[in-house]
Amino acid sequence: MNQIAIMVGRKGRGSNMAALAKACADGSISAQVAFVLSPAETSPAVETAKSLGLAIKPFDLQSPTAGADISDALLAAKVDLLCLAGFMNLLPKRVIQAMDGRVLNIHPALLPKFGGKGMYGMHVHNAVIVAQEPISGCTVHWVTDEYDEGAVVHQLTCPVLPEDTADDLAARVLALEHQAYAEAVQRVLTEGVRP
Ligand code: GRF
Repeated sequence: MNQIAIMVGRKGRGSNMAALAKACADGSISAQVAFVLSPAETSPAVETAKSLGLAIKPFDLQSPTAGADISDALLAAKVDLLCLAGFMNLLPKRVIQAMDGRVLNIHPALLPKFGGKGMYGMHVHNAVIVAQEPISGCTVHWVTDEYDEGAVVHQLTCPVLPEDTADDLAARVLALEHQAYAEAVQRVLTEGVRP
């Protein structure tokens, strides 16, 4: 059985994590969730992970051994794929190397537009609306040591309506994210898609 690990953010809701866990449970992803990595001991995402019965491994991103600690945990559990879901920092290079590049992230816009440092959460959706883009969506991409730079694995699109607020758009994109992330993970695991 393939093993995936999911890394959440300090403050994230964990909705993408929950969607991936659900897809593993119902068989739409052929894998099990080895554990959830969290840079915070407590957060909404950690509470959700607990309620789903997922194992949680907290780590200290400020620690000089953070990269080694995360890498060791992933290698010990023979994790096939690490999925970032709301993790907003750059991942220590050592982790990407340990995973041989098999690290995915999801971004709430159509990269390469509306990505890069500072482009997260509502900043993204506000920028899309200000730019009067007719279409937005989400992107699943390989993770590198630059923000939002890795090759695109999968994108889904949705319309941006003239009356949309950033909250409206965020909700529409979030529903797509849950679908796109599960589809991308399954493709990577079963179709040999490589970084
Ligand atoms: C999502 O919008 C994702 O695209 C971005 O961070 C957000 C995380 O949301 N990387 P959630 O914690 O998965 O609900």
